[in-house]
Amino acid sequence: MAYKLGIIGFGGMAGGYHVDTVLREDIPFEPVAAYDIDPNRLAYAKQRGLAAYDKLEDFFAHEGGFDLVLVATSNNYHCEMACRAMEAGFNVMSEKPVAMSSEELQKMIDTSERTGKLFTVHQNRRWDRDFVMIKKALEDGEIGKPYMIESRIQSPNGNGDMYNWRGMKDHGGGMLLDWGVHMLDQLCWLIKEPIKTVSANVFPLWSEEVDDYSKVIITFESGLVAHMEVVTYSPIALPRWMVYGDRGAMTMQDMGDAKVKIRRIKEDENTVIDVPAYIDHKVITRKQTRHNIKEFEELEVPEVVPNSDWGSVYKNIAGVLDGTEELIVKPCEVMRTFKVIEAAFKSAAEGVTVQF
Ligand SMILES: NC(=O)c1ccc[n+]([C@@H]2O[C@H](COP(=O)([O-])OP(=O)(O)OC[C@H]3O[C@@H](n4cnc5c(N)ncnc54)[C@H](O)[C@@H]3O)[C@@H](O)[C@H]2O)c1
Repeated sequence: MAYKLGIIGFGGMAGGYHVDTVLREDIPFEPVAAYDIDPNRLAYAKQRGLAAYDKLEDFFAHEGGFDLVLVATSNNYHCEMACRAMEAGFNVMSEKPVAMSSEELQKMIDTSERTGKLFTVHQNRRWDRDFVMIKKALEDGEIGKPYMIESRIQSPNGNGDMYNWRGMKDHGGGMLLDWGVHMLDQLCWLIKEPIKTVSANVFPLWSEEVDDYSKVIITFESGLVAHMEVVTYSPIALPRWMVYGDRGAMTMQDMGDAKVKIRRIKEDENTVIDVPAYIDHKVITRKQTRHNIKEFEELEVPEVVPNSDWGSVYKNIAGVLDGTEELIVKPCEVMRTFKVIEAAFKSAAEGVTVQF
């Protein structure tokens, strides 16, 4: 039996990606109804075989109800729609970014706890092939202990432009809330240790009111540093991933072909040598340890998964509804990431490093 999916906001993402995905044979959901304020999108929902509603109350009263409601409006309505759906008795998955502020997110979490309804967020990029491979290589200790992780998205020509509501501040537009929220969710999920500081530059280059460039630097308790950068207009691209560890480094140039290259220390030695030092205008001798790397080895990480399988989001929710799986995208994790985003905006606006 397939779980019934209701959709609020039947735009490009919901009417295209989500419907295509849940119609796959291996996904135990079926799309049954949509609510939207745009008659053209409702006509398209009907064309795709869904019941279409122009009133939220009528949508909530859809015969047979829903096992899950997806909220995929512009970002400014996620909180209101998610809370209303949970109040109406439905489990909810919100599209990313989950909300406009951590206060809104807290309201969604409180509503979920009070109503006892499941609440999660479509952080589908946890299943991106490039990220899965980097995560696995780090967990396997391929480059030893990481001390610096760079995650970067660059577009040469404004791909993912700040068009329509994405260019409007009061709709939650801007690249940090668009791509940035995916990249920070990946980093925060990968690195579980406490965050110490967040510093950032976030600004519009061509956009009228929202950011199209952002760089966020997160320092973790152990000293590990993570850099996230979103560049909307860059004719030259740096690697998607660059990671340094105490036993080597790894890089992935392009998320499209997702090849992880590792250059790892094969043989090294420490030698203690005498070196000159200059104290009190005299030359003295001091002992110093010199780290000599004698040989490196090159390897490519084997493909962990053949494709980015975002359908896993729905499979996991089905497992939670069946009682066989634990929820993967947890609201508390989404809150941690959202606090990083708010700290980044604060750091950029005030020119300060934010203690987390
Ligand atoms: N997870 C991902 O990889 C991913 C990718 C793209 C978009 N998204 C997210 O999906 C959401 C939608 O993005 P999109 O590209 O489909 O945008 P879109 O503009 O194509 O669609 C938004 C839809 O919401 C409808 N809408 C707006 N306000 C509404 C309201 N108050 N009530 C009901 N319907 C309303 C609009 O009419 C439109 O059909 C955004 O939150 C976006 O960030 C996620």
